[in-house]
Amino acid sequence: MSPWIPMTEHAERRRRLMELMAEDSIAILPAAPECTRNRDVLFPFRQDSDFQYLTGFGEPEAVVVLIPGREHGESVLFCRERNPEKELWDGSIVGPEGAIEQYGMDDAFPISDIDDILPGMIEGRSRVYYPLGRDQSFDKRVMDWIKAIRAKVRAGAQPPGEFVALEHLLHDLRLYKSANEIKVMARAGQISAQAHCNAMKRARRGGYEYQLEAELIRTFMEHGARNVAYPSIVGAGANGCILHYIDNSDPLKEGDLVLIDAGCEVDCYASDITRTFPVSGTFSEPQRALYEVVLEAQYAAIDAVRPGNHWNMPHEAAVEVLTQGLIDLGLIQGTLADALEKEAYRPFYMHRTGHWLGMDVHDVGDYKVGDAWRELEPGMVMTVEPGLYVAPDNMDVDPRWRGIGIRIEDDVAVTKDGCRVLTDGVPKTVAEIEALMAEQ
Ligand code: GLY
Ligand code: MN
Ligand code: MN
Repeated sequence: MSPWIPMTEHAERRRRLMELMAEDSIAILPAAPECTRNRDVLFPFRQDSDFQYLTGFGEPEAVVVLIPGREHGESVLFCRERNPEKELWDGSIVGPEGAIEQYGMDDAFPISDIDDILPGMIEGRSRVYYPLGRDQSFDKRVMDWIKAIRAKVRAGAQPPGEFVALEHLLHDLRLYKSANEIKVMARAGQISAQAHCNAMKRARRGGYEYQLEAELIRTFMEHGARNVAYPSIVGAGANGCILHYIDNSDPLKEGDLVLIDAGCEVDCYASDITRTFPVSGTFSEPQRALYEVVLEAQYAAIDAVRPGNHWNMPHEAAVEVLTQGLIDLGLIQGTLADALEKEAYRPFYMHRTGHWLGMDVHDVGDYKVGDAWRELEPGMVMTVEPGLYVAPDNMDVDPRWRGIGIRIEDDVAVTKDGCRVLTDGVPKTVAEIEALMAEQ
C-alpha cells in the first residue's frame, strides 16, 4: 500500500482521467516489467510512474484497464494470482480479491486470463487510450487483441477505430500536485537535505567521491527512503564540470570543490538537490566569486517562480544574472545586452534552469501550450538549478577559473501567492556552508 497517498486519492485520479476520456473509450496501461541485472538476478522492482499514480499497486505483471460507464465496474485490474508456494520464496502477492478489497478496484481478474477477457472489453469501444511505443512486447499484445476482434467482424464484432496516446490526458493531471503529494515531496526533500548536510561534513575527512555517495545513501535509508530518485552525482574538482558524472571514483583533493547532485525517492516521489562546497571547508577566492554569481542567479530564478509567470521566466532571470556575473569577473566581454543577444554565457552554462519534478525526476507535463511557454500555477513543482562550469581546458579564460564547476539546485512548489522551497534544510550561502563544515 502507498503510505502517503490514500486509496481514495488513487480512485479520484482514475475518476478524473475517465471524465476526460471519450464516453465509448477504454484506457489500457501495463505495470512496469521486471528487469534483469545479470543472469537470474533482477533489479529491485520500481513501478511505472503512470501505473503507480492511477493504482498505488506496486507489483509487476499487472494491467489496469479503465472503462468509463462499464456496468460491472469501471476500474479493472489484471494481476498475479495468490500462490502460497511462490509467496514463501518471493513475498506476498495481493491477488485479484486483494486488488478489490485493499486497492479499491471495481473488478479484478488473474493476469493469466487477460487474453480471454480483455478483447471482449475492448470490443465495441471506438477509442483506445494507450501509451504506444513504450513497451514493444506489450504493444504487440495489444495489436494481437485488436486482431482477435477484427477476425470476428463478420459475426458483428466492432474493433476500435482510434488509438490515442494516454499520456496527453494523464500527464496533465500528474503536473498538478495535490496536498498529499506536496507533503510526500517535502518529506523527500527534507531527507535529501539532511543527506547533503552529512555529506558536506563527511568531506572534511577526505577520501573518495564514492564515500560521499555512501554517506548520502546511508542517510536516505536511515530515514526510510530506500531508493535514490536517480544515480547520485558526486564530482570533485573538474569532475563537477561533467554534467552527468556518475563514476564517483576519484579522490577528494584539498582545494577542490565537490558538486553533489543527489536526491532520494519517497513512495515513488523524487527529490533533486545540488550543492557545491569546498573539500577543505573554505572556498578559495575564485571559487567564492563564481559561487556567489550562481547563488544570486538561483535567488533571482526562485523569485520568478510564482503564479502568472510563465515557465521560462526563472530561466531568463538566471541567465541574466549569470551573464552579468561573467562580465563582472572578466570571463566574457561586452555589454549585458550584447552578451545576452549572443548567448555568450553558453560555454559556461549549457543546460536549462529546471524541470518539472514529481514521480519522475524529470517529470511529465508540457512546458509549452501551443507555441507559448506554460503559465505557472499552484501545485506545479519544479527544480531551480542554475550553474557555471569552466572547462579545465578553456584557454579563453584566466587559469584560476579553469576546472571550477558549480550548480545549486532546489525543489520549488508553486503556491497561491508565490512559491515554497521544499529543500531548504541544507545551507547554500558561503557563510552557512563554511559554518556547517566547521562543526565537529
Ligand atoms: N539530477 C538530475 C537533474 O538535476 O536534472
Ligand atoms: Mn534537476
Ligand atoms: Mn539534480
